[in-house]
Amino acid sequence: MDQSLGLLLGYAFGSIPFGLLLAKAGGKGDIRSIGSGNIGATNVLRTGSKKLAAATLLLDLAKGLVPVLLARALFDQPAAMPEAAWGAVPLAALGAVLGHCFPVWLGFKGGKGVATNAGVSFGLGWPIGLAYAAVWIATLAIFRISSVAGMSAVVAAALAAGLLGYVHFVPVLVIVAVLIVWLHRANIGRLMRGEEPKVGSKS
Ligand code: G3P
Repeated sequence: MDQSLGLLLGYAFGSIPFGLLLAKAGGKGDIRSIGSGNIGATNVLRTGSKKLAAATLLLDLAKGLVPVLLARALFDQPAAMPEAAWGAVPLAALGAVLGHCFPVWLGFKGGKGVATNAGVSFGLGWPIGLAYAAVWIATLAIFRISSVAGMSAVVAAALAAGLLGYVHFVPVLVIVAVLIVWLHRANIGRLMRGEEPKVGSKS
């Protein structure tokens, strides 16, 4: 029961399409018809608004962090279940990423989950979140390509969880990493053709 509620809680938060809402509110139109068509912060930046992109990044991160923390507060019981591999906490994490990537409000066509998974990682354990942020920022600084940084960070989070003593969260982080890399298949195609834009470019 707690597990289903955790999953639903995560999905409810994760499915709020902040990028779409902020771009519309900021007078930039439908973000799905701009750039890559993605509803995430990288694409919101292609509208030319750094403020809207930063707000999207922070809110997409928060909608991953908050349900994981709430699930821990609401469902944390003496029994090990809420923290176990398929307890309410990791299922809230999974729900948040699924909500962002497949929001019912947008016909299940959402984003790629990188920022939301950053929030999720901090919620599962701050060392996992720090590893995520460090790899994300370092990779972005080196390559200046958002998709490369995002995919590197999601894989790093799963590895960091295993190495830093959060073994019970490895299964959910591996599933989420596989999903997020799969959602980047168009980006991978562009990377292989040398056509993936650098951060800040409008294409
Ligand atoms: O977080 C999404 C990012 O990795 C790629 O975004 O718009 O370049 O497909 P985009």
